[in-house]
Amino acid sequence: MEPFKLHDQLKLGVATASTQIEGDNRNNSFYEFSLIKGRIKDDTTPFVANQHYKLYKEDIKLMADMHIQIYRMSVEWARIEPEEGKFDREAMDHYIDEISLLKEKGIKVLVTLHHFSNPIWFEHKGAFTKSENNRYFLDFVQYFARNIRGVADEFCTINEPNIYALTSYYKGVWPPAQKSMKLAKKVLKNLAICHIEAYRILHGEIPECRVGFANHMVYFAPKSKKNLLDRFQANYLQRVFQDSIMKAMAFGKRTSFIGNIKQKKGKYYDFIGINYYLRNEVHHLKAEANPNAPKNELGWEIYPEGLRAICKREHEIFGGDIYVTENGTCDSKDEIRPKYIYTHVKAISDLPYVKAYCHWTFIDNWEWAEGQTAKFGLVSLDYKTQERTIRKSGKMYTELIDSRGFTEEMIKKYL
Ligand code: BGC
Repeated sequence: MEPFKLHDQLKLGVATASTQIEGDNRNNSFYEFSLIKGRIKDDTTPFVANQHYKLYKEDIKLMADMHIQIYRMSVEWARIEPEEGKFDREAMDHYIDEISLLKEKGIKVLVTLHHFSNPIWFEHKGAFTKSENNRYFLDFVQYFARNIRGVADEFCTINEPNIYALTSYYKGVWPPAQKSMKLAKKVLKNLAICHIEAYRILHGEIPECRVGFANHMVYFAPKSKKNLLDRFQANYLQRVFQDSIMKAMAFGKRTSFIGNIKQKKGKYYDFIGINYYLRNEVHHLKAEANPNAPKNELGWEIYPEGLRAICKREHEIFGGDIYVTENGTCDSKDEIRPKYIYTHVKAISDLPYVKAYCHWTFIDNWEWAEGQTAKFGLVSLDYKTQERTIRKSGKMYTELIDSRGFTEEMIKKYL
């Protein structure tokens, strides 16, 4: 392992999502879903989580102490619009206060508007399975944009449309537990439309703002490079799983998987967000981790070169700025995380168009179907006492930010 430097314009930060950290909310689809035993690994709900809604000032102080430069956070639609058409001024003011405080501390903020969970009233109407429901999301975007003007100026409309649609509507392990590819495709189509409309709304309300979306990217590789079918299928999965939705959202384009979204062709992004975690090998249309490769506690294959390859590829397709909006690993003992960070940050450290790297995640959180069991944080959390403790990798991350790279000393100390 050798030292390296970050290019000048790369900002390092952390990412979180409201449902996973805020707690104290019974109005979102994941809370309702998690009430039935057996759906969440440890039968927890997101009601406890990190109590971040209450403790946000302490958490922001901790982020500032860790010298975090950029914070990707999401806002909870279910709090801002707890009932159809009724907006909660207090919740809106809470986010204005939170974002203002972050900015006071010199932390740049990227706000995500939809990160997997929905208000229950919207979920019960069929959420994004029906195109006539799109307007509900867009009304919320309009309200939020109008009220956040002058406070936030960078937005990520929708997080991982591909994972949301497939996990909730095809695999059926997230709310509303449907198992239909037809529904998943409808959801993808409506999310693409919603992104484009939200892009227009945000720019209409806040002309100088920057808007993008974050998609989940897997590095698909053929199981055998010599096998033509494996190569073809790896390519096919890449197109279906990631390219089709990205091109629909970014350009308003018709794609074979998603169909015609009936939008004017254009450019509907100011940056591209990439969430990258793992590599999969493809054989017989099945994508799996290589059994001999290093993996994390969830069995996800660790492959830093994949992050570099994907950033390069997306830059070739879309041009402009790339933000790594999520990258991190599940590691309760914090044994593999330091090296994971070293290798992944190194992989993009010289790509001039990668302008942000947001580590997933700041602090252990409620990890959807994994409940409280999966630990992705630079900071660990004791759920009973709500005590936060910076892990070794968290200390290393601060040194990485301060030294703008890895020094010999850091390598000796942490890796
Ligand atoms: C999601 C996060 C999640 C992370 C780790 C991403 O797909 O955007 O919300 O916690 O993966 O599983």
